[in-house]
Amino acid sequence: MELPISAVLIGAGRRGLQIYGNYALRFKNKLNFVAIAEPIKTRRVKFAYLHGIPSNRCYKSWEDLFSEDKLADVAFICTQDQMHTDPCLLALEKGYHVLLEKPMAHRLEDCIKIVKKVEETGKILGVSHVLRYTGFFSTIYEIIQKGLLGDIINITHRENVMWYHYAHSYVRGPWANADKSSPMILTKCCHDLDLLYYMVGSLPKKISSFGNLIHFKSENAPKGAPEFCLDGCPIKDKCLYYAPRTYIDIIPQIQMIEKSDNKFLKILGRLRKNHVNFLTYISKIIPLFKELRYYGDFPIYYLYTDQKEDYSDEVKVRILKKSPYGRCVYKCDNNVVDHQVVNIEFENGVTANLTMNGFSEQEGRTLRIDGTKATLKGEFHISGEKIFYYDHFSGKEKLVYKKKLTRESGEYGVGDFELLNAYIDSLISKEKTQPLTNARECLESHLMAFAANESRIKGTVIDMDEFRKKSNNL
Ligand SMILES: NC(=O)c1ccc[n+]([C@@H]2O[C@H](COP(=O)([O-])OP(=O)(O)OC[C@H]3O[C@@H](n4cnc5c(N)ncnc54)[C@H](O)[C@@H]3O)[C@@H](O)[C@H]2O)c1
Repeated sequence: MELPISAVLIGAGRRGLQIYGNYALRFKNKLNFVAIAEPIKTRRVKFAYLHGIPSNRCYKSWEDLFSEDKLADVAFICTQDQMHTDPCLLALEKGYHVLLEKPMAHRLEDCIKIVKKVEETGKILGVSHVLRYTGFFSTIYEIIQKGLLGDIINITHRENVMWYHYAHSYVRGPWANADKSSPMILTKCCHDLDLLYYMVGSLPKKISSFGNLIHFKSENAPKGAPEFCLDGCPIKDKCLYYAPRTYIDIIPQIQMIEKSDNKFLKILGRLRKNHVNFLTYISKIIPLFKELRYYGDFPIYYLYTDQKEDYSDEVKVRILKKSPYGRCVYKCDNNVVDHQVVNIEFENGVTANLTMNGFSEQEGRTLRIDGTKATLKGEFHISGEKIFYYDHFSGKEKLVYKKKLTRESGEYGVGDFELLNAYIDSLISKEKTQPLTNARECLESHLMAFAANESRIKGTVIDMDEFRKKSNNL
């Protein structure tokens, strides 16, 4: 296969349009999208325009696109979790290599089907476990591989989901109800389980898990709270989750910026928070300020479906009056956990604990790894990243990795571009190398997630060898 790799995109949502689309625009010599399937017209037209795709290669759905003869080398599957399996299986059958969004699928039997189809067709599947490719986690992996920690004994890893992010995605958003999407430990933490497996370098042997939904329930709704925040909520000035705080005043984004080391971004955050009228005025004169005044990235992007992306306060108010994201967080159809712990014993004896919690003051992962020679502590926050190494013999502490928040952090800072580089390298390599994480390896983190979910529900310890064998026969 030669560069640029030709590709079709299934689903021009946030990941498809903004991440993979942006990569192709920036690295035209590497990736070229030649067809698009997307039911929302504005997204389909925008993607086609940006990538110069002719109208006869624009499709309303993946079924239409795959009814054509093979159009490209790779299919990027970027639909929602519960819509991964069918397009992925068909793409593989049609002879496409596939770059599949995580999680592979929302049901275990579907994940198994995908892995078996990959092995049957011999195609290269990349699953976007992007964290493996970040500077932060690749530095940790390198430290482990060089033996600088000695033998790893234990890992404590936390997935700290910031309060607004949890409410956005897991109460009001697409991953709120496990019957319609998948268990939270799969959707949010398949990355973390994959990282634990990757860092420990051994198969999981036993898993147990606890967790439940404490807070986001109807019995916690404030007295007199309406279904939608903007329908006259009596506690709108006191409620953390009052929708306009997140989607219009962008309080959580400003809080994240305030926690960063970047002085320039902090000034911009203060300007947005305290001088919005002045900002409105200068954004008419200086276009750069428009982006700050009418911020439209995560999570605001998700308010917009088929309407024009107008980020003015008036339009947002109109949307929030009927969008799922405008609902009272205590009156949604959510049922996924808002906190969960997973205990793992690996075959090499290492133990690990993963804690997922939806009430964090800031977004990101924190971890410590204790080894026979040293301890490593890491902070992987959106507001900045740091890794400290503590040598047991000398008793010395060293900062071995540091990264500040930048304007690009949210978009490119999480390893997406590195993942694509690795995937494309594996496609063009004559040795047919696999990307960092191949289909079988990816399955392991998904098995861990489904096992944790089963343990949490049934109150049992899961023997992973048995779980793996049982799953393979699904
Ligand atoms: N790798 C990561 O770190 C990461 C981060 C966020 C999301 N994700 C995953 O990426 C996937 C997409 O997430 P998103 O946030 O971009 O979602 P999104 O809702 O923004 O995008 C999904 C798109 O698929 C389109 N679609 C629906 N039906 C379709 C069909 N029949 N044919 C073609 N397209 C169709 C939708 O209209 C939408 O535009 C999800 O599985 C999600 O879990 C991964």
